Amino acid sequence: MLVNATRMLREAHDGHYAVGQFNINNLEWTKAILLTAQEMKSPVILGVSGGAGKYMGGFKVVAAMVKAMDECLGITVPVCLHLDHGNYEQCLACIEAGFTSIMFDGSSLPFAENVQKTTELVRLAHDKGLSIEAEVGAIGGTEDGITADGEVADPAECAKIVALGVDFLAAGIGNIHGIYPENWTGLHFDALENIQKATGGIPLVLHGGTGIPDDQIRNAIKGGMSKINVNTDCQLVFAAATIEYCAAGKADPTGANKEKGYDPRKLLKPGFLAIQAKVKEKILLFGSDNKAC
Ligand code: 13P
Repeated sequence: MLVNATRMLREAHDGHYAVGQFNINNLEWTKAILLTAQEMKSPVILGVSGGAGKYMGGFKVVAAMVKAMDECLGITVPVCLHLDHGNYEQCLACIEAGFTSIMFDGSSLPFAENVQKTTELVRLAHDKGLSIEAEVGAIGGTEDGITADGEVADPAECAKIVALGVDFLAAGIGNIHGIYPENWTGLHFDALENIQKATGGIPLVLHGGTGIPDDQIRNAIKGGMSKINVNTDCQLVFAAATIEYCAAGKADPTGANKEKGYDPRKLLKPGFLAIQAKVKEKILLFGSDNKAC
């Protein structure tokens, strides 16, 4: 059964580990992540951006697929289906579609409008039992065509948004979506400390989990980051494994290969296994293994 992320993230915060949000793009991604979370006895959050939702045919398709797969694969660890960086309309659509959690990203709006829309969405989400993440201060990099610099959130603004009743908060501390540039100066742990103090111990969310050195991830978890979002990392390993398979001629229908390696179930398997290995590595790094016994 799908659950919201409130309890799993409170437990992570109290237990000084983090739950991974792994973004999904299709059936293979979903299956690979669910099976790995189950194997590792780890709670997990499946993130769906607006773009990925559209790509998969719409939020209703995604919710139906995830619910059915969770059931048919016999998954028993807590699984949350979460909208990633939603606008107001996407949040409404995901509440309607049966997601168990939403993120309203009002960080590019004037602060007063972010407050007003977050207030409304907190009520709508909680009425239906969903958890809700909000964002203060844009997170750097490019995702779904939206680009921002690696901003650091203002603790006073964070406190105001948390007071609206959100369940967890994405607060920029110099993190960036996608691949980090060589001149990136690292996470701002002083800012994290101030935000954690100002927000009274609410679980915080670290976006842009790809490419942050392991020691900084561990320090961020110590500082109160209880949810870590990973997307690009899985895309990179999936692409590399698929390219290697094709480069080895395994998908070639004209060669000596009689294995029908062009069958999508074979063609996509190396990428599938690569995602599983990456998710396992992250679960161990975040320390969420064996937390869903
Ligand atoms: P990466 O693509 O950098 O891993 O970031 C994912 C993310 O933060 C999704 O919101």
